[in-house]
Amino acid sequence: MNSGSSWDFRDKQELIASQEYNKEGYIIEKADFQHLELIKNAVQKAYCDFCNINEKEVQDLENAHLSISHDKSNDLRLHIMQAIYQNTGFHKNYYYAAKNIIHSLCGNELAMQKRPGLSVNLPQNPSDVLPIHADTWNGVSPFELNIWIPLVDCANSMCLYILKRNSYKRRLNESKELLRLTSDELFNELRDDLTWIPIEYGQILAFDQSLPHGYSLNEERNTHWSINCRFKGLHTPYWDKKLGEYFMPITVKNCTRLGMDYSHPESWI
Ligand SMILES: [Fe+2]
Repeated sequence: MNSGSSWDFRDKQELIASQEYNKEGYIIEKADFQHLELIKNAVQKAYCDFCNINEKEVQDLENAHLSISHDKSNDLRLHIMQAIYQNTGFHKNYYYAAKNIIHSLCGNELAMQKRPGLSVNLPQNPSDVLPIHADTWNGVSPFELNIWIPLVDCANSMCLYILKRNSYKRRLNESKELLRLTSDELFNELRDDLTWIPIEYGQILAFDQSLPHGYSLNEERNTHWSINCRFKGLHTPYWDKKLGEYFMPITVKNCTRLGMDYSHPESWI
């Protein structure tokens, strides 16, 4: 996947990050902690609001299952998403929390998902399972980078799982029938090849959503909290998810702005 071309001017750090991302299907980096804390605070505030409690009395996010019943987890998720996307302050913090790795892998003139996804997976709640899928199977552009940020430490079944690139290629070569299976059948078929990615609060995960991934049943004692948000080069192809609807331009450079406003002198045409 490295071009090997004498015209490839990416620096060493970028190439190392790219190689790891290509090999594993993901890379873990340190978040910018200041911006990460602002993200978590916004979520915590909306969580308190949902529970109708004072911020000082709130349970830590990983103990949300002590306050939230299984049937309320989706309402909680939707309530928090509604609250935190009221203005672009949250998006800005998200971008700055992960800016280094986004620039390394994706570029600096970018479009960002307008409504990032929030995952709240309560222990032993089957409704919070995310069946195995690759986003590109459903009309999502392969030019996207998914920046996934945990709000709590994640271990074992609290983690996102992924099928690494080599395993995916191998399994597809072994059986072209694989993608005809239902998602439950596919999960059971691939289970032994899946990697549950351990990650701590303070880190960010950049992963390739064209590889199969999902959440299994959370069998740990704590509640899983994470946010996922897609970034893509502004000028890369858009499939089902359109610019201005699903994606918003966030770092439009000056020459692009001038180019969009340019009008050719009429007498020259
Ligand atoms: Fe996905």
